[in-house]
Amino acid sequence: MEIMGRGVRQILAESPCYFHILTKFAGYRLFGKKSPLYGSADIINVCNLHCTHCYWWLNRKENEELSVSDWKKIIDEKFKKNHVFIITLVGGEPTLRPDVVELFIKEFPKRVCLVTNGTLPLKKYKDIYFYWISIDGNQEIHNQIRGHNAHQTTKKNILDYIQANGPKAYKDIWITMTINSLNYTTIKDVMDGWRPYSNKIGFQFHTPFAKGDPLWMPFGPERTKIIDEIISLREKYPDYIINPPSQLELMKKSWGGQGTTPIDCPTWAILSVDHMGREKRPCCIGSAENDSMKPICEECGLGCYSVLVGFGMKG
Ligand SMILES: C[S@@+](CC[C@H](N)C(=O)[O-])C[C@H]1O[C@@H](n2cnc3c(N)ncnc32)[C@H](O)[C@@H]1O
Ligand code: SF4
Ligand code: SF4
Repeated sequence: MEIMGRGVRQILAESPCYFHILTKFAGYRLFGKKSPLYGSADIINVCNLHCTHCYWWLNRKENEELSVSDWKKIIDEKFKKNHVFIITLVGGEPTLRPDVVELFIKEFPKRVCLVTNGTLPLKKYKDIYFYWISIDGNQEIHNQIRGHNAHQTTKKNILDYIQANGPKAYKDIWITMTINSLNYTTIKDVMDGWRPYSNKIGFQFHTPFAKGDPLWMPFGPERTKIIDEIISLREKYPDYIINPPSQLELMKKSWGGQGTTPIDCPTWAILSVDHMGREKRPCCIGSAENDSMKPICEECGLGCYSVLVGFGMKG
């Protein structure tokens, strides 16, 4: 038996972590105490792609990269001090810093998710929780968004990973699809195409940084239809699609805030740092710098926060 990719033995071994998580949940429910449950770190300020929809390039500035020992300090002073349970490594393209990935996995065995475009060979890390591989449509649309041959390269790397690491290696591969106006008609293609090579899939919606962003799927009948289709697919593949119905229902309308101000969004739940280890505001797609572009909360489609709102956590 597995719960979100974690076996019973693993869950038992992690009981001290669950103690902290349960204490945090109880603290929130009973006293409104807000302590981060998860962590997210942009471990690199470089990316090998320039995807059409990407928020990361909007606020990127040229900077130094941190060393492994700098990251160790950030791990101790921020993530360990706050007893965060799961850490998501992002970027830029985090697979370009295997030294930092190794450090995080050593410090948080089975608790690190690595979000990647999958265009570089995927290393086998014994104690990784899983790879989140970003897939943004069928081959044609994915390449339109992510660049020439990106889909083929990522697919080859996943197949190579499974071939090199045995039949159970597909369990390390989770797909994340960010739905936008270019790719929404290819959701079923993505599901059918990737199900044989992956353990789970998660959907979220494009979050704009400017009003009138043509990639954003407006609230209304078309968006509702897409979400209802995902809910039906989930009934057919309950172990594959990870989005709970409560979250999917929320995504039909504005749930996070007003303008660029988060209101119901539980920004406190994910401690997010940028490539310099500075805390990002208001959330993991924001920035540590005041003069940065800001995400439009009232049009937000991010999965990692909306799932918490679906479970009753608020800002
Ligand atoms: C910024 S990327 C960094 C990790 C890696 N380079 C990748 O592409 O997976 C992290 C995730 O954010 C998603 N993303 C980028 N721009 C977005 C936006 N405006 N709204 C929602 N998700 C976005 C990407 O599709 C990807 O799944
Ligand atoms: S690969 Fe990831 S970080 Fe790089 S541009 Fe694409 S979405 Fe953004
Ligand atoms: S996740 Fe970020 S953009 Fe979305 S509502 Fe929360 S703070 Fe705003």
